[in-house]
Amino acid sequence: MRDAWGLNERLFAAWYPCVMGLSERAGGAAIRHELLTGAAGRTLEIGAGNGYNLPHYSAAVTELVVSEPSPYMVEHLRKRLEATPPPVGSWDLVQTGAEALPFDDTSFDTVVAAYVHCTIPDPAAALREIHRVLRDGGRYLFLEHVRDRSLFGSLQDLVEVPHAYVAAGCHPNRRTEDLLDASPLTVERLEHGTLPMGFPTVRPTIRGVAVRTAS
Ligand SMILES: C[S@@+](CC[C@H](N)C(=O)[O-])C[C@H]1O[C@@H](n2cnc3c(N)ncnc32)[C@H](O)[C@@H]1O
Repeated sequence: MRDAWGLNERLFAAWYPCVMGLSERAGGAAIRHELLTGAAGRTLEIGAGNGYNLPHYSAAVTELVVSEPSPYMVEHLRKRLEATPPPVGSWDLVQTGAEALPFDDTSFDTVVAAYVHCTIPDPAAALREIHRVLRDGGRYLFLEHVRDRSLFGSLQDLVEVPHAYVAAGCHPNRRTEDLLDASPLTVERLEHGTLPMGFPTVRPTIRGVAVRTAS
């Protein structure tokens, strides 16, 4: 949900790094680190935000393509990439949304997304694109906050509209596990958890690995 002037997107890019920073220091960084030990080869990150994943990539990543649609977040990303380059073979920054990725079919070994599917306007299209750009056997590493399956999910439904405005289109009640099941990817591992120090409506999370199986 973007307002006519992109004001909420601009404000989100200003406050998100501070709020998420609290979570990072409370254990969020360790969760990202564990997930990203699985990143290898030519790797694409979608919706990279201000770049909290960047320090967790290793030299097993030969080429890292960092993507993000918001011009305000791209500013943060460029500064961070230039000041503290990730320890990978090489990196590139591309301004794009995930529903129409400007990359060739089967051109990546790994795709990464953290807390992104909540915000993508058409998350099913994004999953089809992730499947398209992964090679056979390529891995999609995901970490997402999701709608809770208990009664608490109804509260997440209730706050969806104001939440999406304040957080630049982030829906606290996305059923990302169902979206993954309906996508062409095959979920190999999925764990439920919580976002450290997360606001209650964004606390339930899933993380894991999905693969593109040979067709
Ligand atoms: C909650 S932030 C997460 C940022 C970062 N991935 C992290 O882990 O901190 C959601 C991000 O998704 C981005 N986003 C919004 N629409 C998108 C789209 N269509 N495709 C990809 N990313 C999108 C936003 O600009 C924002 O940077």
